Amino acid sequence: MKRKILVTGGAGYIGSHTVVELQEAGFEVVIVDNLSNSYDSVLDNIKEITGIKPRFYHFDLTDAERTKDFFAEENDIAGVIHFAALKAVGESMQKSVLYYKNNIFSLLNVLEGMKMSGLDNLVFSSSCTVYGQPDTLPVTEQAPIKKAYSPYGHTKQIAEEIIQNVSSLDGLHAILLRYFNPIGAHPSAKIGELPLGVPNNLVPFITQTAIGIREELKVFGNDYDTPDGTAIRDYIHVVDLAKAHVVALRRMLENKQKEKLEVFNLGTGNGFSVLEVIQAFEKVSKQKLNYRIVGRRPGDTEKVWAATKLANEELGWKARKNLFEMMESAWNWELALKKRNS
Ligand code: UD1
Repeated sequence: MKRKILVTGGAGYIGSHTVVELQEAGFEVVIVDNLSNSYDSVLDNIKEITGIKPRFYHFDLTDAERTKDFFAEENDIAGVIHFAALKAVGESMQKSVLYYKNNIFSLLNVLEGMKMSGLDNLVFSSSCTVYGQPDTLPVTEQAPIKKAYSPYGHTKQIAEEIIQNVSSLDGLHAILLRYFNPIGAHPSAKIGELPLGVPNNLVPFITQTAIGIREELKVFGNDYDTPDGTAIRDYIHVVDLAKAHVVALRRMLENKQKEKLEVFNLGTGNGFSVLEVIQAFEKVSKQKLNYRIVGRRPGDTEKVWAATKLANEELGWKARKNLFEMMESAWNWELALKKRNS
């Protein structure tokens, strides 16, 4: 079996953890990344974990000619995991055209390169954001796709539709993975989330506040229809998430798919409120977090957590790590970053 896998966005947060899992499973990885939200030092950090520095191409996948050249050069790839995308919800409201252009053109160029190479196995990085606020919880893969609030969310919906159509018309085999809220870091604390500037997401904001980079965490709203009034999400450890990609890829390479196009939720199935996440952090870090309740963040969903039956039964994959383990690894990563920068 051919073992070479292209990981686009492989220097990023979820990408880098997936590269580690792929290498540990015996795959050869080639990364394409424009380093717009990551650093090439991640490649050395991956090597410190696995002993293998992944091969790396530094270019932008919105460049159609460069992407074609890449696929012509690397003509023995067995499968593609496509992470490369812009992902900040707030920024996408300010820079909508950039988000559409970046996330859609890069997907189209990857699909074109795959077609050119006769390559038909794609794992795509999607999001629970496609469900909006679901009518019933836990949300299953069959839940209706709701109108997207942000251009970011819309690009995920459009990308899913493009892949679905290409799959039905052109024979592409694809698995769409809808992530819930990935948090935490590798247990080695050698790779993790590296937000550029002020983090948008809850957990890096918590750890940066605790370590003194940020003054205080603002909790966005405590008037939601939830037990403590704060919003609920299904947080999943990034290593559990990364492992699901290896499982999905194997399923395609071993021709075990039930349909050419499959969709799986990747979550734990458990919802936690913002205050519960803070409490879990305080417990594992043994310190008090400076936080304040403020108004809701526009566009936020009240509550969402995953139905995990399909992924558990069909993929034979299950998220293992609990919220404490997630918060502990996120905190260890923040401490390691401080050490590295001092
Ligand atoms: C959203 C998207 C997700 C996307 C991600 C990318 C949904 C349901 N999810 O995640 O698909 O991949 O953005 O960034 O649309 N919070 C605070 N204070 C903060 C930051 C966050 O209280 O400083 C709260 C939020 O209001 C939310 C929770 O923490 O209730 C999680 O927020 P965040 O980490 O930003 O993720 P989502 O918005 O859920």
